[in-house]
Parts: sequence; structure tokens; C-alpha cells
Amino acid sequence: MSDQLIIFDTTLRDGEQSPGASMTKDEKVRIAKALERMNVDIIEAGFPIASPGDFEAVQAVAEAVKDSTVCGLARALAKDISQAGEALRHANSGRIHTFIATSPIHMKMKLRMEPDAVLEQAVGAVKMARKFTDNVEFSPEDAGRSELDFLCRVIEAVIDAGARTINIPDTVGYNLPNQFGSLIKNLIERIPNSDKAIFSVHCHNDLGLAVANSLAAVQNGARQVECTVNGLGERAGNAALEEVVMAVRTRQDLFDCDSRIDTPHILAASRLVSSITGFPVQPNKAIVGANAFAHESGIHQDGVLKNRETYEIMRAQDVGWGENRIVLGKHSGRNALRSRLQDLGIELSSEEELNEAFLRFKELADKKHEIFDEDLQALVAEATTSTENECYKLLSMKVCSETGEVPEATVTVSIDGEEKTATAQGGGPVDAAYKAIEDLVNSETELLLYSVNNITSGTDSQGEVTVRLSKNGRIVNGLGADTDIVMASAKAYINALNKVMDGIEDRAHPQL
Ligand code: KIV
Ligand code: ZN
Repeated sequence: MSDQLIIFDTTLRDGEQSPGASMTKDEKVRIAKALERMNVDIIEAGFPIASPGDFEAVQAVAEAVKDSTVCGLARALAKDISQAGEALRHANSGRIHTFIATSPIHMKMKLRMEPDAVLEQAVGAVKMARKFTDNVEFSPEDAGRSELDFLCRVIEAVIDAGARTINIPDTVGYNLPNQFGSLIKNLIERIPNSDKAIFSVHCHNDLGLAVANSLAAVQNGARQVECTVNGLGERAGNAALEEVVMAVRTRQDLFDCDSRIDTPHILAASRLVSSITGFPVQPNKAIVGANAFAHESGIHQDGVLKNRETYEIMRAQDVGWGENRIVLGKHSGRNALRSRLQDLGIELSSEEELNEAFLRFKELADKKHEIFDEDLQALVAEATTSTENECYKLLSMKVCSETGEVPEATVTVSIDGEEKTATAQGGGPVDAAYKAIEDLVNSETELLLYSVNNITSGTDSQGEVTVRLSKNGRIVNGLGADTDIVMASAKAYINALNKVMDGIEDRAHPQL
């Protein structure tokens, strides 16, 4: 059995299925480049049949990425498979991932198909995918609730048909670690041609067990784990890449394989995904949370100072945590900014993006004396998260908040090039600003989430605001950062409104 654990990242596909996490083509390419830099083996770039935009995004990732395999998802349907094959045509290395549900409940209620017909369709799909590429992965969806005998029959047949990776999804996150580990062991032992394929797992986190289940599977013979940065994904998410990778790396005494992941790039990838999707990382999140390597209690600090290993099982710098360094200041130039961004693994796709980032950097340096790496990351995220044809632009804002007085905001917004101003009162300055913006745009959106995080420590830190809006069933996240949190809030709101307005494209969901 191979001693390489293949890391298959599905942030751009399953991760994007989280409500509000949809990404533009350029954002997907930026994340894909960060994954490639981290040595991710396979990047699932999307579901090409979902919409023309999804097709183009998979195509763009396939063209931009050279060192990782790029994968496209396809239901076991001819149109899906040919669309995936076409999107991956120019990939250096491409994979088609096709799937069909095999659990009794999915076959009966969702597919309305008899098991034999499901098996036949699975085999047909794999054979068709093989016409496009030798690199075909097959998933029996909801394998975690499928009957073992039927699962074995399907898997044996698709391996015969040419599937070289068999992915076992715990689609609804139902399994427990010992149960899931045994399932993988049983499949490998019982299926006569199992040695012709690599067994993979894809665990959802509905019971908080996605990482534990993935690790149990690896200990029982799985050699590919499907995961996402920050554990993003449908519902409670997928197994977190950073946790799987670091568990296997840290506990080499218990695993007979390891991944090729270049772990110091983990933190930058986590921040990039968080800022692009607008999903903040909780402070106590393993590996990438702000507190993951912070030793608050005096007793712990004492222990760590005497001997690091008393309370630390990993080195912070091995996953990308460094000193909170002051990198640039008011007098730093464009080249200094470019070079620091390169050190942080941030590639800007054009000179215009650099100019935009530099402009924002200068504005920030006027307000904030010390500029940290985190500030640069937020600044670039903001500069590049703006949608292509922005309908709304925040031009200016004045906010009055005084003891005993009702807070009031006057906001000027450019709407399709026309300048408009409104004043409104609210429960607080943010509420007043949002009401004034609403008076101007009349968006008819519902605010689902508003959250503020400080990017670095200190009262002059930038606040990063995430806003989630819903309109006609479509959910978007907006992001804004500023040293003034009311301004950051207004920027985030405008960013979300632009996303709502930006070409609402009908997209098919792969599993519904
Ligand atoms: O969770 C799941 O079953 C999936 C499949 C498409 C692999 O995402
Ligand atoms: Zn999934």
C-alpha cells in the first residue's frame, strides 16, 4: 500500500456549496493557485454543467494550474461528463469525478431508480468519462448509509469499467469513526479488484466527526482524503484540510503514510479562503484560529517558556504563523508592497489590481501607523473581492453618535454612475448607515448575518465586517475592512449588494 496520502481539495466545489460562499472565476483561480502552492495533489474546481459561469471557472483553473491535477464534478449523466471533459481539455493533468447515489433512501426518494439501474448508470458514466481521460474517480453518493453488498457490487463494476479512484462519501455525516474505518477496511478486503483503485473518503461534519472519520479511514487503508480549507462545505462542512494534514503529520507514529502538503502555506490559504468567501475563522479553530497557538493562561505560558513541548504539539511556524510583523509603512513604495505580497503568497493578476491595492495601502497607512501582514491580506481581499461591473459605489459617509441622541448617518452612493445621498436614523451608527443605504438602493434583501472581527490587536486595528444577504433564495456574503468599523460595515453592505446585483445566474446543484 502506498505511503502517500493524496490530498484532494474540494473548497472550490463542495466548499462553494455553503450558502453565500459562491466565488467568481478570478477568486477561484486565486484560491486554486494558493492550493497549488501548498502542494495539494488534486483540486476539484467545480461542477461544470451547473452554469456557463461554473464551466468557465473550471476551465480557467485548469488553464492556470500546472502542478496539481484539476478535477471537474459530473453526475453520472452524459451531458455532465462531456461538459466536464470539455472544461478540463487544457488541463496539464485533469480528472473527471462522476457520482450517483447508492443508499436505499437516495435511490428510492431522490433518483426513483432500482438498484440495478443505478449500477448500470454508474458503469456507463465511468466508461464515458474514460473516453476523455484515464483519470476517473467514482463516488457512490451516501455510501455511509448504503448496503454493504450493493456497495461492493457497484464498486467492483466501476473499477472494471475503468475508475481508478473510488471515493466513499459520508454524504450526511452520519458515521462514527470506528464504523467508518471498518467500512473502508471491509470494502478493500471484500472487493476482488480493489487493488486496481485508490480508496478515498469524503466526510461531512454534521456530527462534528468529519476529520475523525477521515483519519479512521486512512488508518484502515484509504489513501486519498477529500477536504476543504477551513472545513468549508455543504451544511456543517467537510473535513478541514489543515486538520487532516496536521493530524497525520504530527502523529506519524500512528499513520503509515503522509501527505505532500507544504504546511507553512496553510495559514495564508486559510485567510484567503476566509476573506474571499466571507466565512470568518473562529478564534479557537484548530491550526488556523487566532488562539490555536496563543498561550493565555499564566501556567501554560510558564510551561511553554520552560519547554515548548509542555503544551505545544506542533510548531506555529510550521503552519504559517510568524511574528505579527510590521512589514510596511507610510513611505513604502509599490515595489515593496508587491514583494511583500509575493512573500505572503498573494499573486495579483494584473497591474491594475496592484495599483488598486497600492492605493488602498496608502489610504490605510495614513490612518494606521503600523501595517501588519494581516492588514495586507484584508486589503488585497477587499481590492479583489469587488465585482466586475459594480452598480453601487460608496462615495462618502458621515455618522453622528452622541450620548442621549439618536444616531444618524448621511451616506452618498454612486448608483450606476449617478450620485445619490440619504440620511437616516437608527438604533446605532451601523443601523443608521444601513438604513440610509437601503433608502437609496431599495434592495429588498434580507440581512442574514452581520459580524465584526478585528484583524490584528489594538484599538487602531482594522475591523473586518462580514454581511450575508439573501434575495429570492440567493445568498451572498459581502466583506469590508477599515479602521473605522462603521465604514467597514458600510463597505461590506455595498459589497454584498453588488454581488446580489451581479448577474444572477441559474446554477444546478449537483446533489439536488
Ligand atoms: O457529499 C457528497 O456525497 C458529495 C459527492 C458529490 C461526492 O459531495
Ligand atoms: Zn460532499
